[in-house]
Amino acid sequence: MKPTVAPFPAARLRRTRASQAIRNLVQENTLTPSDFIWPVFVRDGDGVEEPVASMPGVMRRSVDKIAEAAVEAQALGIPAICLFPYTDASLKTEDCAEAWNPDNLTNRAIRAIKDAAPEIAVMTDVALDPYNINGHDGYVVDGEIVNDATVEALVKMTLAQADAGADIIGPSDMMDGRIGAMRNALENAGHHNVAILSYAAKYASAYYGPFRDAVGASGALKGDKKTYQMDPANSDEALRLIERDLMEGADMVMVKPGIAYLDICHRVKSAFGVPTYAYQVSGEYAMIQAAAQNGWIDGEKVMMESLMAFKRSGCNGILTYFAPAAAKLLNG
Ligand code: PBG
Repeated sequence: MKPTVAPFPAARLRRTRASQAIRNLVQENTLTPSDFIWPVFVRDGDGVEEPVASMPGVMRRSVDKIAEAAVEAQALGIPAICLFPYTDASLKTEDCAEAWNPDNLTNRAIRAIKDAAPEIAVMTDVALDPYNINGHDGYVVDGEIVNDATVEALVKMTLAQADAGADIIGPSDMMDGRIGAMRNALENAGHHNVAILSYAAKYASAYYGPFRDAVGASGALKGDKKTYQMDPANSDEALRLIERDLMEGADMVMVKPGIAYLDICHRVKSAFGVPTYAYQVSGEYAMIQAAAQNGWIDGEKVMMESLMAFKRSGCNGILTYFAPAAAKLLNG
């Protein structure tokens, strides 16, 4: 489609920017609370809300407080919450068995949310890193991240989460073959409506730093994640990964991190036209909050501008720690 622009002064492109009313009329994209998936951190205890130092405004919450947060999110019109556990170091092992414990933090939080706020969709993260003694998303054997044994463990983890009541499974591990294995296991177990939102194009990114503090994985991680997460230099590879995950049964796909990867969001949406999400990750959140706290930027405005940018790039929605703050602003 070739845009038609008449010669000046027939075309004065400032006309459609002349008043707020006209600007509202020609606005191409919108942001609403229903665009958000809110990532939250779960910890043990009762009545606990503990600030995460590197993510101002973000808390680790005990299960009862997570349920309260879900009630708040539901009232704000946020459709989904994504759970990340801060697992005690004593529960981290080589075999990561805590990952599929029906009573682990994530599974307890799923049940608590389902009781307290039944309209909220609960999303989970599937990867072994919160339970792994060496901080990796997969099993480590002789210094290598092994694929197929990891997928078997991830399937057990997936089934435990679905049994607890999860609505959306979010594999963030970047192993090969996991989507098909999970879909198959979910179907066989009768969980036909449990959806998979694949972290399909997940980059080996330094923007995840504050998250690893939040879940207590920073100290544990030996080495880097470059043999499974993507090289930030690549873009065609993201399309192959997305297509592969869709062919294996992913219902929705994610690009991660967000703002530095909007070109990928746009390519994915244009190429496949499937429900596409971006994760505005911990480091992006921390950067905006830090600059705002220093008075160097207007935090609220930059928050809203960054969220709208995801919509403009073609994303259907955004996983963002800003979800409740942005929803409050949007709701007036
Ligand atoms: C773990 C996982 C990570 C994030 C989500 N799931 C960290 C990692 O891959 O090291 C990062 C989220 C964020 O930075 O906000 N599989």
